[in-house]
Amino acid sequence: MRIGVIGLGYVGLVTALVLANQGNDIIGIDSDKKKIGMLSSGKATIYEPGLDDLLLKVSSRIIFSDDYGPLADAEAIFVIVPTPVSNDRIDLSYVRSALGAASKINKSATFIIKSTAVPGTAEKFSAEFGIKIVSNPEFTKEGTGIQDTEHPNRVVIGSPDEASGDLVEAIWSFTRSPVIRTNNKNAELTKYASNAFLATKISFINEIANLCEKIPGCDVEVIAKAMGLDERIGPHFLKAGLGWGGSCFPKDTKAIVTFAKDLGEQQNIIESAVRVNDGRIDRAVSLVKKVWGKGDLSNVRVGMLGVAFKGDTDDIRDSQAVKLMHRLVQENAKVGVYDPKAKVADSSITVYASKEDCVKNSDIILVTTDWKDFSRIYETVGDKPIVDTRRIFTSDRRNIFSIGKGEA
Ligand code: UDX
Repeated sequence: MRIGVIGLGYVGLVTALVLANQGNDIIGIDSDKKKIGMLSSGKATIYEPGLDDLLLKVSSRIIFSDDYGPLADAEAIFVIVPTPVSNDRIDLSYVRSALGAASKINKSATFIIKSTAVPGTAEKFSAEFGIKIVSNPEFTKEGTGIQDTEHPNRVVIGSPDEASGDLVEAIWSFTRSPVIRTNNKNAELTKYASNAFLATKISFINEIANLCEKIPGCDVEVIAKAMGLDERIGPHFLKAGLGWGGSCFPKDTKAIVTFAKDLGEQQNIIESAVRVNDGRIDRAVSLVKKVWGKGDLSNVRVGMLGVAFKGDTDDIRDSQAVKLMHRLVQENAKVGVYDPKAKVADSSITVYASKEDCVKNSDIILVTTDWKDFSRIYETVGDKPIVDTRRIFTSDRRNIFSIGKGEA
């Protein structure tokens, strides 16, 4: 099939490459000329495991362009552009402009919105531009983007009619995943419900972690493991830590709460999940002060391992680690950071080229992103205190202080 993909961010680029790898001819469109230039010369624009190799492998099946012209004869056109929030309300301007521009070139294609968009979006733009739109939300995690796209737990297809739904089902048939066929609005809301539920699960275990810290001998990791073995609960997204960040959970929880409010409905549980998550930074600062033994962190050299919002990505959007970094700077700490892939530019912090340098030049070490490789840092730390906000250490060494653990 000849397929267009508008928006080459984390999800868009992975989708484009995976579909090219399945034998489709792909036209990848992005308004960022620099990005198009890099991709056209075979260079990946983001860090995502396996992406460089896949880009090389499918290069003959994909063209990149900042011009919508090549979409003229596409049968299907995916829209995978950002849907940020502005004053906690969804901003659909990127979706509107992508659909507007593409529909001027090609009105007969089936348009597929993969961007997260509130219920009613597809129907509204379908009427506005006179095109057929299918809602096909993505459930792709950064760091495992290629696997999640090739083997999703389910494919949700919300279509206005059978034919357009069949076309999208055919595109994803190689995944052999269970398919849910429904209308546009159900598909759109499924995405929000899923993300809000996962965010709530994390906030739930983070509150249990808070409780554990008050009970000598209690450990949230043991409790999460035991809970997770109950098939009704499941083991995933029960890792207590610094809280959730990234490009999806923070904006999606806000957008759905505001969307519901506009309809006269309060989403109490999602609102609480957001509040608990916002409180993680204060909790982490309190723990650092407790471990340091003083309420004043002025001039204390704090070494942060990790600024990405989670391991295996270079993405710092809405990263809890970055928020903690800013808070520690406000506390007048001397903050140094190291991350294997993510970059931060801030004149008030020191960026180290290696984890060893970060550790060597710090009085107290904070593990703030769950990069696997950080667990090996222990040998170089000596007696310095380590605050493990991501629970990456399994040992009970004297100088490791973990969130969610009551002092024995
Ligand atoms: C998420 C959804 O999982 C995905 O389905 C959706 O399409 C996009 O948003 P992503 O943002 O890439 O994916 O990351 P995810 O793995 O879900 O983690 C989100 C945040 O929650 C990260 O900050 C992570 O560190 C945190 N997290 C995750 C926890 O603190 N504990 C957990 O148990 C799981």
